[in-house]
Amino acid sequence: MNVLLVVTGGIAVYKSCEVVGRIKAKGHDVRVVMTRGATQFVAPLTFSALSGHPTQTEMFGSEKSDIEHIELAKWADLVLVAPATYNFIGKMANGIADDLATTVLAAIPAETPIFIAPAMNTKMWENPILQRNLESLKILPNLKVIMPRHAILACGDRGIGAMEKPKEIVKAIFS
Ligand SMILES: Cc1cc2nc3c(=O)[nH]c(=O)nc-3n(C[C@H](O)[C@H](O)[C@H](O)COP(=O)(O)O)c2cc1C
Repeated sequence: MNVLLVVTGGIAVYKSCEVVGRIKAKGHDVRVVMTRGATQFVAPLTFSALSGHPTQTEMFGSEKSDIEHIELAKWADLVLVAPATYNFIGKMANGIADDLATTVLAAIPAETPIFIAPAMNTKMWENPILQRNLESLKILPNLKVIMPRHAILACGDRGIGAMEKPKEIVKAIFS
């Protein structure tokens, strides 16, 4: 199976490195798209080395003749957004496509499964705007949310918002 992993800019990006390894270990192919925010946390090179494909980050500037976001959206049999930031969920829910990651998501066919694994501070998770945006995403019957966990978060707060564990994410997308 061709798995497209979209990595957005939260502290949990490092956990998505393990997600790549676990998907590959099951014999699937993985390509990675990162937002610019995500590249602040882990270098694209790490995901390139783990996936065996160049990590894509930019909408413009590729010399390749194919239209990258359409080609990637067609290639994917399954899409996983992990971690999914407050910002990225807001953009998806409101039809914003202003970088490669959001534009690829806009072009995903209706029959391709999309999983998103939100990760953020508890107050961001509980923000009614985030919850409204998650509700709006129910318009996509092919989208499932992998719920965040209760934990002591990177900021020191205790509460819901930690990205689900890599092992559980991989279990969820293939079950
Ligand atoms: C140290 C640090 C940690 C962050 N962690 C998160 C996070 O876990 N979840 C989140 O939604 N935003 C987090 N942010 C904020 C996002 O990086 C910011 O909203 C950014 O615009 C997201 O861009 P993207 O969605 O295009 O990747 C963090 C920011 C910093 C500086």
